[in-house]
Amino acid sequence: MSEPGEILYEVRNLSKRYGAVVALDDVSMFVRAGEVVGLVGDNGAGKSTLVKCLSGAHQPSSGQVLLEGVERHWHSPHDAIEAGVETLYQDSGLAPHLSVSANVFLGREELKPGILGRMGFLAQKSMDTRAHEDLERVGIAVPASGRSVSQLSGGQRQAVAIGRAVAWASKVIILDEPTNHLGARQAREVLQVMRSAKQQGLGVIFISHTLPHVLEVTDRVVVLRLGRVVRDAPTSEFDAESLLGTITGLNAT
Ligand SMILES: Nc1ncnc2c1ncn2[C@@H]1O[C@H](COP(=O)(O)OP(=O)(O)OP(=O)(O)O)[C@@H](O)[C@H]1O
Ligand SMILES: [Mg+2]
Repeated sequence: MSEPGEILYEVRNLSKRYGAVVALDDVSMFVRAGEVVGLVGDNGAGKSTLVKCLSGAHQPSSGQVLLEGVERHWHSPHDAIEAGVETLYQDSGLAPHLSVSANVFLGREELKPGILGRMGFLAQKSMDTRAHEDLERVGIAVPASGRSVSQLSGGQRQAVAIGRAVAWASKVIILDEPTNHLGARQAREVLQVMRSAKQQGLGVIFISHTLPHVLEVTDRVVVLRLGRVVRDAPTSEFDAESLLGTITGLNAT
């Protein structure tokens, strides 16, 4: 486990091209252990592309990805998950026909580090109970874990997806627009989950267009514009207006 304040996860000079489209252009950024970094930018700025490079879903065209100072080449999301990097994608999928607890345990046949790791294989009933308890512990109020996800509201599904990611993460958690489609109370819960992940020493990367949430929960903000980092500064240096101006490029930064 990294000491608080140490650089945990980092990209250096990362570029990603899709054919002629340059989605990321020489991007460098990092997250420390025990830090929440906000990643913001207008539609198409490159946030989700960066998330996919960090999560192993896409390979960068050039540049480096380093976990705890060691260069890594993720060939799939599974590689990054194995190493302790959990990602909630913007268009995250749960398996709707399965129960809450089955979704929490989906694809976790092996014993993993993290809050749920000590459980290993368990009978269905105790798996339901433990999934429920552990989601609650990370601050997600979920309905009965035995219920099918197809019976949950959109916001409740989102809560399960977030709880799953946070519960399994052992180093880094990346949340791409996790408060979308959530009501005010559920959004507050998600912000609280990020705070508790940070207190446990995880590095948290939070992508959002909801600037008050970004200003409230992050320690530092990285602003992307047209695939480039235009600002990387402590959150205390921004207010809502200056952050918006930096994102759009319509006022001096
Ligand atoms: N699979 C792809 N193939 C081609 N171009 C892509 C692909 N994915 C993203 N792009 C392009 O890369 C750029 C960055 O897209 P990206 O999804 O990373 O933006 P974003 O910052 O996440 O935007 P939003 O706020 O709308 O989610 C856009 O110009 C987009 O059209
Ligand atoms: Mg996106």
